[in-house]
Amino acid sequence: MAKQKGTIKNNELTAEIAWFQKIISTSINLYFQQECEIDSLYKIEPPKNGKLESLINNDTITFDEKIVIMLGLMPHLYPQILDVFFIQNKNFNRSYTEFGGWKGFSHGGFLPTGETVAFIIAGEDIEKRKYIGTMFEKEHWFYKNNILRLEGVGNGEPFLSGQLLISDETLYKVLKGKEYKPDYSVGFPAKLITTELNWEDMVLDYQVYEDINELNTWIKSSNVIMEDWGLNRFLKAGYRSLFYGPPGTGKTLAATLIGKKNNIDVYRIDLSMIVSKYIGETEKNLAKVFDMAENRNWILFFDEADSLFGKRTSTNTSNDRHANQEVAYLLQRIEDFPGTVILATNLKSNIDEAFSRRFQSVIYFSMPTEDLRAKLWLKMLPKSWLGKETNEYIKIASRYELSGGSISNVIRKCALRMLAKQTNILDKEIFKEALNKESLKK
Ligand SMILES: Nc1ncnc2c1ncn2[C@@H]1O[C@H](COP(=O)(O)OP(=O)(O)O)[C@@H](O)[C@H]1O
Ligand SMILES: [Mg+2]
Repeated sequence: MAKQKGTIKNNELTAEIAWFQKIISTSINLYFQQECEIDSLYKIEPPKNGKLESLINNDTITFDEKIVIMLGLMPHLYPQILDVFFIQNKNFNRSYTEFGGWKGFSHGGFLPTGETVAFIIAGEDIEKRKYIGTMFEKEHWFYKNNILRLEGVGNGEPFLSGQLLISDETLYKVLKGKEYKPDYSVGFPAKLITTELNWEDMVLDYQVYEDINELNTWIKSSNVIMEDWGLNRFLKAGYRSLFYGPPGTGKTLAATLIGKKNNIDVYRIDLSMIVSKYIGETEKNLAKVFDMAENRNWILFFDEADSLFGKRTSTNTSNDRHANQEVAYLLQRIEDFPGTVILATNLKSNIDEAFSRRFQSVIYFSMPTEDLRAKLWLKMLPKSWLGKETNEYIKIASRYELSGGSISNVIRKCALRMLAKQTNILDKEIFKEALNKESLKK
């Protein structure tokens, strides 16, 4: 991420940077036993403004952890602060091993590693070095909350030689002051989906409502079920739901509205893209999505999930085998995901029983009945188009067996025709023509 001009002056963390600068110079003075009025790093009080705590979303960050986070941020916020680590060891005419550090491809400054952390915090204290190692393990909140990690340790090289990398997510928050919402890319195959519609705009069969509401209840109150009632011993974490039914019946809409109602982001992953196109890299990219979703409490919405069910047996080519491997990986991750996962598919026949058993709910989105279609038309057609003849229009329209998605297509078509004819009233000719055209599509 590009460093922005003026970040330092306007940065929330000005006080923390000043504190960290003192930490670094003191650690060097102490190490080289130069004259120094402070005899321990821990006497340098960190700012008590709570800025770092709120940025990182953790109000119990320890002194040492603060050092690690600030060190990770420095190449982005204030790289020159680390230039002291370039001093040469005159005895050997090379840089000091104990400082660690990487040199970037284009970045001229010092890029800290785990070794740099160990130098500042542990110095020559071997016991303390061990403790530094635990800060980069998978159990530590640095890893679990996707704050930072050590990366790129060479084969056979010491663990602490990995580069100290702040996550994009954390960096974004520090630089922009708001939550990071990643964009869809080849490396991040998920997209945030939103809707202008509200819960009341959704027209569904009564039974489907009930089923969806159960999912809402789970999202709102799973902690009562799992913790207060102690059922986490027996029940698998998370909730997996399968939406199936013809296209345009509101599966995507329902998933999006569940998120909106519960104030949770919904990320859509198009499986038809994944399973076929990005073979090889897929696992890594999917892992990124799952990890983020877990930390951020997103709903994961897998669309076009049919590609998961079909073609699982034929393994003629190495591509097929690869695809099968991806599918197996994905199913496992879905099953282990501790949050809410919704899969959507147009088919049902292909879904085998073994597969359905993995879902806490299977919800059928049927084509709307004539009554429901009337409701849809009434909600979607602009009142001003119809005038006094509203009832008649609705009656005509709802006879056509169309899904909610098709109904919106008809309305779009009518709007375009009306503009072409420069009229504000929908005449029956235009309406019927659009209706007929749309029903022929099937
Ligand atoms: N049950 C429904 N209630 C309200 N609007 C619907 C419904 N079904 C479809 N629509 C309309 O059609 C659009 C497309 O539906 P979508 O949710 O993408 O269908 P699916 O995912 O089942 O293919 C929606 O954005 C919405 O405008
Ligand atoms: Mg859809």
